[in-house]
Amino acid sequence: MQAFVLTRYGGPEATQLREVPKPRPARGEVLVRVHAAGLNPVDFKTRDGKLKLIQGYSLPAIMGNELAGVVEDCGEGATRFAKGDRVFARMLKAAMGAFAEYAVVPEDLLAAMPASLDFETAAGVPLAGLTALQALRDELNVRKGSRIFIPGGAGGVGTFAIQLAKQLGVEVTTTASPRGRVLVERLGADVVIDYTTQKFEDHVRDMDGVFDLLGGETLKKSFSVVKRGGKVVSVAGMPEPQTARKDLGRGTGLAALFWLASFSLRAEARKHGVSYRYLFMHPSGRELAELGQLIDQKKLDPIIDRVFPFAGIAEAFAYLEAGRAKGKVVVRMPATDA
Ligand SMILES: NC(=O)c1ccc[n+]([C@@H]2O[C@H](COP(=O)([O-])OP(=O)(O)OC[C@H]3O[C@@H](n4cnc5c(N)ncnc54)[C@H](OP(=O)(O)O)[C@@H]3O)[C@@H](O)[C@H]2O)c1
Repeated sequence: MQAFVLTRYGGPEATQLREVPKPRPARGEVLVRVHAAGLNPVDFKTRDGKLKLIQGYSLPAIMGNELAGVVEDCGEGATRFAKGDRVFARMLKAAMGAFAEYAVVPEDLLAAMPASLDFETAAGVPLAGLTALQALRDELNVRKGSRIFIPGGAGGVGTFAIQLAKQLGVEVTTTASPRGRVLVERLGADVVIDYTTQKFEDHVRDMDGVFDLLGGETLKKSFSVVKRGGKVVSVAGMPEPQTARKDLGRGTGLAALFWLASFSLRAEARKHGVSYRYLFMHPSGRELAELGQLIDQKKLDPIIDRVFPFAGIAEAFAYLEAGRAKGKVVVRMPATDA
């Protein structure tokens, strides 16, 4: 079968479309005929070796972290799905493998695809959708009436986060360029700040929380817009000790490293009387089914920016990496290329 393989850590030339053996489902796993797969910034960060310390893949490895497709076969003990079922998933973090004609997925990570979606739209849901859900509900603990700032609302995660926050009764302030304004307003953002002409820190204050999608200077400044006792949760900044223990299940060594790396951010948080948390999302078939339900109920609308043919996956990477995507970027697999 055709697969997009990472041969070594490096730039785009470290990846290749090549023939590899079709995988077989082990115990508890399901073999999926992939129809479409979503791209995420984690793909090019992985390719560049930026996450080597925590990922530890043995190369060559098939890339790709989310998919939508049809069940082809079930391994021993995998009983929740049957051949022919339409499914979607965020892949096992230790394995990746979605950028291929076939992929194996532990059955617990799979959910039935929303009946209302095509494969390309479904493939863009799992990683960004779960990230937004877990950050807002489990880490920021938002409730009806919360006021949340989401810098960078027009991208893959932001377009889910705005909609889910509105579903949860949250007042949403976000940043977007004029290119993204109409989209984030349509998704329900209450206040939109044009980051190309305005400094958000001059306009936003007394938030209950921040869901940071940008890191860097934006994250540093975001502590000042939260009221005392509030929370800043980032998926794009610097990991902190809890990231090592809670999200990665790792011990004191990595926690100490993250303690050092996040020192200045945590100091800034303390200065403003707020907490700082860096979240690594986790795959979950159960939570993905919840998102699927919201989609079928028309309460959540996955935004797909562009779909590329699998043969053009290098261009899809370049497009996403340019950082201007409005919603998700997806590749369509060869079987459905026609
Ligand atoms: N830790 C985790 O588990 C986890 C999970 C998912 C994602 N992430 C991380 O979260 C980040 C966002 O992911 P994503 O998939 O949403 O990325 P994305 O889709 O590539 O985001 C692109 C969007 O960001 C907007 N943007 C860029 N610079 C901006 C700025 N200075 N202010 C406001 N908006 C800006 C762009 O809007 P304009 O074109 O209008 O500028 C574009 O619409 C990435 O760093 C990713 O690695 C982490």
